[in-house]
Amino acid sequence: MKLRYFSHSSFLITLDTGTKILMDPFLNGNPTSPVSADQISADYILVSHGHGDHLGDTVGIAERCNALCICENELATYLSTKGVRSHAMHIGGTRPFDFGKVKLTQALHSSVTPDKECIGTPTGMILFVQDKIIYHTGDTGLFLDMKLIGELYAVDYLLVPIGDNFTMGIEDAVRAGTFIKPKWVIPMHYNTFDAIKADPKEFKRQVEISGIRCRVLEFGQEIEL
Ligand code: NI
Ligand code: MN
Repeated sequence: MKLRYFSHSSFLITLDTGTKILMDPFLNGNPTSPVSADQISADYILVSHGHGDHLGDTVGIAERCNALCICENELATYLSTKGVRSHAMHIGGTRPFDFGKVKLTQALHSSVTPDKECIGTPTGMILFVQDKIIYHTGDTGLFLDMKLIGELYAVDYLLVPIGDNFTMGIEDAVRAGTFIKPKWVIPMHYNTFDAIKADPKEFKRQVEISGIRCRVLEFGQEIEL
């Protein structure tokens, strides 16, 4: 299984079977993305919430690839009205798909699509794929129930925002790490815009003091999980 990071909160998981799961594909209009949307294909697209820097190129990629979009109910309904395939879930729900399971979690944030047509609920996404548990928190502030998530699930990879201003910054992202206790943490949602400038190496230094291993990915880098 491979994980590729496109910058911001955009990741692509490629399973050993070749199935591609894209998360928060903000590529076109993202000044730090090394790829454009037309270079990326997906079988499934997971969207944490409706903000433009997460919904991103979902509709275009889903149309071209006939991908199934998996997200919270209101956003899923909105995506259906745009003519793409969607599966609606909501916070607390878990659902098996042919690639593995998805569970949606809460996220302390807001959600509205760029065209203002859909106000929904922001989410985090826990993926159970092959033998790994991957928790993409979406955009969120720190919340105490992350401790519960850490107790219930042996998270292998935690994808956590560090850019501050709209989400957790480095200090709270370190606290999220100590709450969830993943095997690895990967910082996201930083250095895309001036408002979310953060030093991922400083995050790595601080979180590793707490005994959590950290992998800072280059924009475009792909690693084996
Ligand atoms: Ni957001
Ligand atoms: Mn965001």
